[in-house]
Amino acid sequence: MANWRLLARRITSSFIIGLCLVNLSDSSLSKSIKHPVILIPGDGGSQLEAKLNKTKSVHIFCSQKTSDYFALWLNLELMEPYVLDCFVDNMRLVYDNVTRTTKNSPGVDIRIPGFGGTKTVEWLDSSEISPTSYFSVMVQDLLSMGYVRNQSVRGAPYDFRKAPNEQADFFLKFKQLIEETFTMNNNSRVVLVGHSMGNMYTLYFLNHQPQQWKDKYIRSFVSLAGPWGGAAKTLRLMSSGDSLGFYSIILNPLEIRPQQRSMPSTAWLLPTDSVWSPDDVLVSRPGYNYTLKDYKKFFQDLNFMDGWYMRQDTEGLTRKLSPPGVEVHCVHGLGVKTPAAFSFTEKQWPDSQPTVTYSNGDGTVNSRSLEGCLLWQERQPQSVYHYVIPNAEHMQLLYNADAIKIIKKVAGSDTP
Ligand SMILES: *[C@@H]1O[C@H](CO)[C@@H](O)[C@H](O)[C@H]1NC(C)=O
Ligand SMILES: *[C@@H]1O[C@H](CO)[C@@H](O)[C@H](O)[C@H]1NC(C)=O
Ligand SMILES: *[C@@H]1O[C@H](CO)[C@@H](O)[C@H](O)[C@H]1NC(C)=O
Ligand SMILES: *[C@@H]1O[C@H](CO)[C@@H](O)[C@H](O)[C@H]1NC(C)=O
Ligand SMILES: *[C@@H]1O[C@H](CO)[C@@H](O)[C@H](O)[C@H]1NC(C)=O
Repeated sequence: MANWRLLARRITSSFIIGLCLVNLSDSSLSKSIKHPVILIPGDGGSQLEAKLNKTKSVHIFCSQKTSDYFALWLNLELMEPYVLDCFVDNMRLVYDNVTRTTKNSPGVDIRIPGFGGTKTVEWLDSSEISPTSYFSVMVQDLLSMGYVRNQSVRGAPYDFRKAPNEQADFFLKFKQLIEETFTMNNNSRVVLVGHSMGNMYTLYFLNHQPQQWKDKYIRSFVSLAGPWGGAAKTLRLMSSGDSLGFYSIILNPLEIRPQQRSMPSTAWLLPTDSVWSPDDVLVSRPGYNYTLKDYKKFFQDLNFMDGWYMRQDTEGLTRKLSPPGVEVHCVHGLGVKTPAAFSFTEKQWPDSQPTVTYSNGDGTVNSRSLEGCLLWQERQPQSVYHYVIPNAEHMQLLYNADAIKIIKKVAGSDTP
């Protein structure tokens, strides 16, 4: 039976369990550290630093050369309308349709600071101001339990523009980080905590490790807001750009579209047939209704064939949703209006913002995708626990007291 049909059946039978499990009493939380925690951020959840040595720039006022690295993502000053073009040109990737790989924009060197530590995933802006707080609340809570930064709570930031097919180096470092953290903490198995796309990275990683290694090093995988079958929102990002409501900065979607389109990670997270039906219309315009079988035509009609190549490069990475082979605590919000389909008039296609049809979800990821983890309940011997947190929005889940309680309970549990 197709995954998406199987999923529809499972959801009706296992929903309520999640709601009860959230009801954990504080007294059940252990004060001591039993298991170290590694945080894996989502799309946009790592700081990026750039150093420039360009021969040309898009505007006269854009820097061409810098003597050192500077914060590229996320630096709120670079989001001002006039300098946005400079930012887009520095942040975009350039796709090579022969080698099927991406590289940085010419003359731009990019690095991801703070690997192993948590500072660069706690705050996205190095000034550590609240609008860009990410894992900070959760880390503060762990510190109050006795956790220590970069020892028992660690971070695995990465270049979120790319999909796992171009991240061999990251996965090697990630594996070493897990083994090192295990050793540093008296050989206690590690709890992996992913948010959003970080869960897809973690799933891909676990799918490629031997079972014996996972049994030795991994205590549990706590997934927060995993887009297991993609998110419909990515289609609008490809067609018309997305103004990143996430940081409530007003951006012209068309100005940022070149950068957003250039990320293979966006193509990777298009809706998949693991949770969507091939009959669901995702994008419509006069003359055509696009389903997930029509991605090639979608990109042809957008006159953006690189998008189709990037889709082909990435769609097999996690499409089957193979079980991770470790204990899973799948946590997500529901009850938030979430973009599910987009409809364009002839005049709107594709450069104006379409009319949006909404579904249930967490505001970013549609419910059917968030619930994709339920498919593992019968496919792996390790337990898959499911927790639904009513009305918890995709980003807000990171600060949600119930979500943090689940992490503390899993990490503080006595299981060796
Ligand atoms: C900058 O790039 C030019 C070539 O475009 C190269 O000759 C020069 O050595 C580079 N400078 C630095 C500091 O990397
Ligand atoms: C590949 O890219 C080159 C350079 O951008 C372009 O001229 C060519 O048409 C592309 N090939 C295909 C098959 O899209
Ligand atoms: C974290 O600790 C490791 C090993 O002790 C060290 O090499 C690394 O520089 C530290 N990272 C940060 C961001 O502090
Ligand atoms: C390390 O683990 C061993 C057994 O697993 C335990 O006896 C010992 O107390 C632990 N040491 C620390 C410092 O937690
Ligand atoms: C697209 O779907 C709508 C209803 O969902 C239908 O009315 C319309 O005729 C379809 N358009 C095409 C071109 O198939």
